[in-house]
Amino acid sequence: MLKVSNYFILKSMSIKKFHNAVFIIVCTFILSIYSACNNPDSIPATVTFTEHVAPILYNNCTICHRQGGNAHFALITYEDARKNAGSTAYVVKEKLMPPWPADPHYTEFAGQRILSDHDIKVIQKWYAEGAPEGPKDKLPALPKYPVGSLIGTPDMSIPVQPFFLKANSSDRFLLVKVPFELPSDTFACLLEFMPGYKNMVHHVNGDLVKYEFNKKTNVFADERVVDMVLDTASIVQAFKRLGLPNDDGTYPVLQKSVVNYLPGAMGQRYPEGIGGYFLPRKGVFLLNDLHYGFTSKDDILDSSYINIFFSKGPPKRPMQEFQMGTLSSFGNAPVLPDMIIYPNTVKPVYTRYKVPEDISILTVNPHMHLLGKSFKAYAVAPEGDTIKLISIPRWDFSWQYFYTFKKMVKIPKGSIIIAEGIYDNTKQNLNNPFSPPQLVHDNDGSMKATDEMFQFIVSYLPYQAGDENISLETH
Ligand code: HEC
Repeated sequence: MLKVSNYFILKSMSIKKFHNAVFIIVCTFILSIYSACNNPDSIPATVTFTEHVAPILYNNCTICHRQGGNAHFALITYEDARKNAGSTAYVVKEKLMPPWPADPHYTEFAGQRILSDHDIKVIQKWYAEGAPEGPKDKLPALPKYPVGSLIGTPDMSIPVQPFFLKANSSDRFLLVKVPFELPSDTFACLLEFMPGYKNMVHHVNGDLVKYEFNKKTNVFADERVVDMVLDTASIVQAFKRLGLPNDDGTYPVLQKSVVNYLPGAMGQRYPEGIGGYFLPRKGVFLLNDLHYGFTSKDDILDSSYINIFFSKGPPKRPMQEFQMGTLSSFGNAPVLPDMIIYPNTVKPVYTRYKVPEDISILTVNPHMHLLGKSFKAYAVAPEGDTIKLISIPRWDFSWQYFYTFKKMVKIPKGSIIIAEGIYDNTKQNLNNPFSPPQLVHDNDGSMKATDEMFQFIVSYLPYQAGDENISLETH
């Protein structure tokens, strides 16, 4: 069929056109042979560790897979890689590693860690051919990582009270006070939480308590660590045990979410003048839910600390934030229809929020627990355009980043931001904490992994002309 129709097409061409067509076909053929040999995207005939695989691992994996990283084994030397070649080939093919649950075809983010299809194929071929080492002198320089910080050299580090974990205790959620006193009021562009015992610290959500100098004599007094509690009466009690109130019993200002931690998530440094924090002379970092996982070893010592990077002056454009869903800011974006997930059901929920002014979004943080199946958020502008924010097709409880856009995303006044989540409370969900499945609900904003949350946190600035051109990558 094809040949016949080609023949008629050719026949209807003038001879000159025919020659041109042949010329083009031949050139295309030669070009494709040429590019197969020289194109860096083509897969090498022999794939070796030193020449091809190590550069991929050093760029995408060793930030976590190294001595002192947060994964439990290294992928630095040939021996490391050879031992783990099979599982490495599997996790990259399944796109489980590097952990990056957001769909890059929906939206891209600064610092995203995703292997290209080419890199995945290189690793597959290497494993299939017996994971050869290759010439030793081709090994690239071992990657260097800063000590004590993932970002750089901090101006100051404040230790968190060391904490001993007992064997076989269940997950611990702690409220931890980290007091500080500085020579004068100052400003920080970045605050970074560094876990002491990386495999055990699951996450941290830290607030900043700001004292007026004369209202608090001693920020260092009272208890440093209490168990996390949720009902209002117990919270007030816990705050008193930690000595958070001013000397006269009134409460100082508390700024939410200034220092957050999740394994693999690096603190985000925004361009000069954007974001940043006012640090009073006397203050307390209140680590809201320092979450330690289960351990079978006794008396593990965690000595975490908080790094402070000072900035030259006050933030010109301080960051603002709203929360949608569970614990939504002012309750204006509740979870709909509700957060009651019956056993053996797959339940969709959503939340919506009408943006009252033009804003520029910098960072978004989707949050669900173990029944989460997928998450999507977008805005619908008043003219009806959809502005994509984030899609997580396969929810992964372990990797809940604060995703920073490559450039700020403008959301015009009157747009509706919509976040949609799907929960899987069936036994097909391998992360289901209950077998058989049980009724799960939000339990008044409980943060226990076995209760559920549906939350979308948005960090933004009031829009200024040109915001959408400001790069947020590597500052
Ligand atoms: C952000 C940190 C991080 C990055 C980046 C990362 N990993 Fe991992 N990886 C982990 C952690 C943590 C675990 C342990 C996960 C667990 O136990 O659930 C892990 C587990 C693994 C496992 C073991 C899986 C298993 O179930 O036995 C392999 C293999 C692996 N990673 C390979 C890689 C490769 C290859 C890359 C780069 C292409 C990579 N990882 C990038 C943190 C990371």
